[in-house]
Amino acid sequence: MGYLVAFLPDDYLRKISQYFADLQPPYPNADQSDVAPAVLAAGQRLVMQGDPARKIPACIACHGARMTGQQPGIPGLLGLHASYVAGQMGTWRSGTRHAPAPDCMRSIAVKLTDRDITAVSTWLARQPRPADPRPAPASAERLPLSCGSQPQ
Ligand code: HEC
Repeated sequence: MGYLVAFLPDDYLRKISQYFADLQPPYPNADQSDVAPAVLAAGQRLVMQGDPARKIPACIACHGARMTGQQPGIPGLLGLHASYVAGQMGTWRSGTRHAPAPDCMRSIAVKLTDRDITAVSTWLARQPRPADPRPAPASAERLPLSCGSQPQ
């Protein structure tokens, strides 16, 4: 992928991005697999409230109260498979995936235990799909951590 896009002009890349950003493909169905209620409750807590004792901010503080993301650089968390979300956390921990510094998601991923990752990814995958999938507008409110993908 890197080689493929390295030689394309920025303007063209912007057009491609806008094209895909404007598409509204239907969400896949919410996951219905059997997950222990305690695991789901822990996932909901982390997404909604974080864990202040471990300095883990609530996911919604950045990804938006409706979890559909925030313009321009924070993606939505609904409609993703649990294995995809868990996989991204793994690649952030190992350094395979990284975002522009400061990479706030890496700081978060390294604090999450395997149990936390199972909890957030399974809870997110079971949430009903939003009627309006558009991300929240950019907010002037400070993020709990600085993110290179969402300069403020
Ligand atoms: C401080 C702000 C912030 C917080 C808090 C936060 N995120 Fe993120 N998250 C981001 C940003 C910024 C990106 C985009 C990173 C990039 O450019 O690759 C992102 C990307 C992601 C992605 C990748 C989505 C995709 O389509 O590949 C996942 C999954 C994710 N976050 C899950 C979470 C979860 C789960 C939590 C809570 C435990 C959380 N995030 C908390 C800022 C945040």
